[in-house]
Amino acid sequence: MIVPVPAAAPDPSPAAGVGLPVLPPGFRFGTSTAAYQVEGAVDQDGRGPSIWDTFSHTAGRINDGSTGDVACDHYHRFPEDVALMKDLGVGGYRLSLSWSRIQPTGAGPVNQQGLDFYDRLLDELLAAGVQPMVTLFHWDLPQALEDDGGWLNRSTIDRFAEYAAIAAARLGDRVEHWVPVNEPNVVTMMGYGIGMHAPGRAMFFDALPAAHHLLLAHGRATIALRDSVPAGVTASVGCANNHAPMWPASDDAADIGATKLFDAVWNGLFLEPMLLGRYPVDLAPLLEDVVVDGDLATIRQPLDFYGVNYYNPWRIAAAGEGADLPFEFRELLGYPTTDIGWPVVPDALREWLIMFRARYRNALPPIYITENGAAYGTGPDADGVVDDRARIDYLDGHLRAVATAVQRGVDVRGYYCWSLLDNFEWTEGYSQRFGLVHVDYETQVRTPKSSYRWFADVIAAQTRSL
Ligand code: NOJ
Repeated sequence: MIVPVPAAAPDPSPAAGVGLPVLPPGFRFGTSTAAYQVEGAVDQDGRGPSIWDTFSHTAGRINDGSTGDVACDHYHRFPEDVALMKDLGVGGYRLSLSWSRIQPTGAGPVNQQGLDFYDRLLDELLAAGVQPMVTLFHWDLPQALEDDGGWLNRSTIDRFAEYAAIAAARLGDRVEHWVPVNEPNVVTMMGYGIGMHAPGRAMFFDALPAAHHLLLAHGRATIALRDSVPAGVTASVGCANNHAPMWPASDDAADIGATKLFDAVWNGLFLEPMLLGRYPVDLAPLLEDVVVDGDLATIRQPLDFYGVNYYNPWRIAAAGEGADLPFEFRELLGYPTTDIGWPVVPDALREWLIMFRARYRNALPPIYITENGAAYGTGPDADGVVDDRARIDYLDGHLRAVATAVQRGVDVRGYYCWSLLDNFEWTEGYSQRFGLVHVDYETQVRTPKSSYRWFADVIAAQTRSL
């Protein structure tokens, strides 16, 4: 059930889009979600278990003890959610497919019911005038593949290419953009490096083979998607890499060195192979034993777009003697923070985009902001209004940053807000709310927040002025 949006949000600040430079014609506004975070229905219609089912059902892994078993029940309520997108006025929706819905063990026969669900979802989106951007892997690896070593096992890449081909053949006539792997850096670091995400392994620098295999999975899936879409269709394939500007905690040489190293680990390790076909010099020696001849050429597929997930810059210091990793993270002082504790620094997005274009100019396809958003816990007031003006300020600042970068010559073609709905925020469970739409997890009632109305007004204003 959708609670009607008040005609005008109470005094939103700032006024929708006022003073926002006009974005280029065709600029795509969208919202993003991911399968495990919204779908629920984890044991329905033949879906197999993923590593996030296992992880979230393991005591102590999720801060509020929750799981994605029900989440936003999007599996059953997607028509209502698509109607919300239509009313919002977005032209795009970034979703992910659950691999274990389509191949319950990550290999072998296709579960038709799983594909049927995505068939219905894509049809519903297109009927609402919303173009799908489809991510193949947003972290929910089939558990059976993890049991064989997951992303540490090179054969997972073959399985992924097969799955990409299945998805492209069945859905490729309706997908505007494909993203093979969401945030391979987060999977490597959080899943295999420090174990805060599924599969929960803490291998520190020994996790680097997972990065190489995820990059190869990106390259092989890109080829498979292009080869397998129906005749007459051209697949548009990109990526969704999380990037964060790295700022040293001081001008001490040790802090600057640690910052440079962490910048290579977080940013360069993924963008350099994808765009330039090489690893950052500081890290290449650590990967020598894993890289096979031809791998870097496989990773460096020409991309139709480069997706950037941006949230905030990080402040880095050198770690003390005996630490597991040579860098550590410090609080970025002097900025407001969202409820999850992340600093709000829109200017850093503008600067990062300008730097990115300057440094990789010839190798860089058009950019999409594939995720940007903020966690604020604002809930309904006595009148049922969710007045989340802090999120409006966050989104306004970041959209302005994008628009300014565009004016400075950076080719940004779209902005997808994370997220349409409040949803299962991984290790944080349901305690952090990123949605433009509030979800009451007891009743599944959706309540559009003030930010939803504000975003709708921005989109309408921008579209009018194009
Ligand atoms: C990036 C991830 O892709 C998404 O799944 C997550 O919810 C948001 N960041 C917010 O943390």
